[in-house]
Amino acid sequence: MTPTFDRMTFCIHTFGCQMNKHDSERIAGMLEGLGATMVDAVEDADIVVFMTCCVREAADTRLYGQVASLKNVPLRAGSPLPKRIVAVGGCIGQRDGEKLTEQLPHLDVVFGTHNLGSLPGLLAQAVADGAHHVEVLESSSDFPTELPTAREHSWAAWLPITVGCDNFCSYCIVPYVRGREKSRALEDIEREARGYVEAGVREITLLGQNVNSYGRDLYGEPRFVDVLDAVDATGIERLRFATSHPKDLTDEVIARFGSLRSLMPALHLPAQSGSDRILAAMNRRYTREHYLGLIAKLRRACPDIALSTDLIVGFPGETEEDFLQTLSLVREVGYGQVFTFIYSKREGTPAAKMADDTPREVIQERFDRLVEAVQEGAWQANQAELGRVVPVLVEGTSKRDAAMLTGKSPKNQTVHAPLPAGLDAAGLVGTVVDVRVDEARTWYLAGTVEGAPRP
Ligand code: SAH
Ligand code: SF4
Ligand code: F3S
Repeated sequence: MTPTFDRMTFCIHTFGCQMNKHDSERIAGMLEGLGATMVDAVEDADIVVFMTCCVREAADTRLYGQVASLKNVPLRAGSPLPKRIVAVGGCIGQRDGEKLTEQLPHLDVVFGTHNLGSLPGLLAQAVADGAHHVEVLESSSDFPTELPTAREHSWAAWLPITVGCDNFCSYCIVPYVRGREKSRALEDIEREARGYVEAGVREITLLGQNVNSYGRDLYGEPRFVDVLDAVDATGIERLRFATSHPKDLTDEVIARFGSLRSLMPALHLPAQSGSDRILAAMNRRYTREHYLGLIAKLRRACPDIALSTDLIVGFPGETEEDFLQTLSLVREVGYGQVFTFIYSKREGTPAAKMADDTPREVIQERFDRLVEAVQEGAWQANQAELGRVVPVLVEGTSKRDAAMLTGKSPKNQTVHAPLPAGLDAAGLVGTVVDVRVDEARTWYLAGTVEGAPRP
């Protein structure tokens, strides 16, 4: 029997990567389809769903506190339920399963990364009998995203093309909680993309832990470059993808930057470290030289491409010399944006068994030096935009100032511009306006709108 959630409200707290954010959109789509209403605040929610992340320890410990503190939040007046239902899904749900209900006795439902579709049934059982319901699967037979979606924004969509990861970087928990890599059929990807274009979506971001290895489980055909071409052919205005593993980025894909109409001139290419010794210990399977070779090819294909990356500081055994290699990589590449992480030991990964004796203060001091270099580089990269006119996809207005538009440039830079007189901010959301850049800061550009918005 199909469960119904008429008159019930729910909210979803999402942590971690875009995979989780997208899974949350699927959950919202399912629950809304079954009659429930989404709300923002836990105070107003009859059902609270946590979509969790365990890629680093900080996210892990935070969940326990947040679920525990819900106990003190009273159920809203008018709720059809006798008590609030609390569910935990995502990567901690997958990793810890039953153990979570032992540590958090008022938890009602636990589900994993392979069975989003089971959530409504589990919630309905918990509503009916007030007991714990835990379901975590080893892996799934279907591609888990063939479910309805309630998108966060009308103008942008995330489109998963693979799930899981086969790379087993030695520090990383993702392959253990997301399972083996599975590619989605190209026809399904094309169908979903066409549907988005027809619905007025202007930007699609293709998602996967390593989009470049798309198709490997489909006997090598089609390949990622075929996905890019097929999605471009749907007429989408802006196309992006994440994430790319440097060992699998092909010359064909590189050549699409600057030649494929919709592909935006921005690439996130996680380096993790600039030291060959550490890259080998991380099981990344490329060298610094190979990585820099890719950067050179990308710049030849698309001279103005914006590059971003992820870097880990304090991997077990990292020496000052190794760290200096990472620092010099940042200076050599000139990234527009860098996500910097302090290494976090994850039980069950190979790196958790490696000797790790660098003092905490030394790692923190390296991290601070890295952040400084990153900020310098980002500021430098943004100076090139001064005086240019950039087409900005408007996302809304600034949190602090309702008369300040904010949006994204093709290079994925945040751009602010005062709302032109006589225009309505809400009406501009999801449209493209031209902005002449007259201020270039470390993390954003600012300028003035020129001409009329493009419908
Ligand atoms: N599949 C993507 C993203 C994986 S998780 C990729 O390969 O790039 C996002 C980032 O978290 C990683 O790129 C890495 O920089 C960081 N990360 C993963 N595990 C980590 C750990 N144990 N400690 C610190 N950072 C980690
Ligand atoms: Fe983790 Fe490496 Fe897979 Fe990325 S490619 S998810 S860092 S194992
Ligand atoms: Fe976190 Fe899971 Fe993504 S561990 S980074 S939410 S795949």
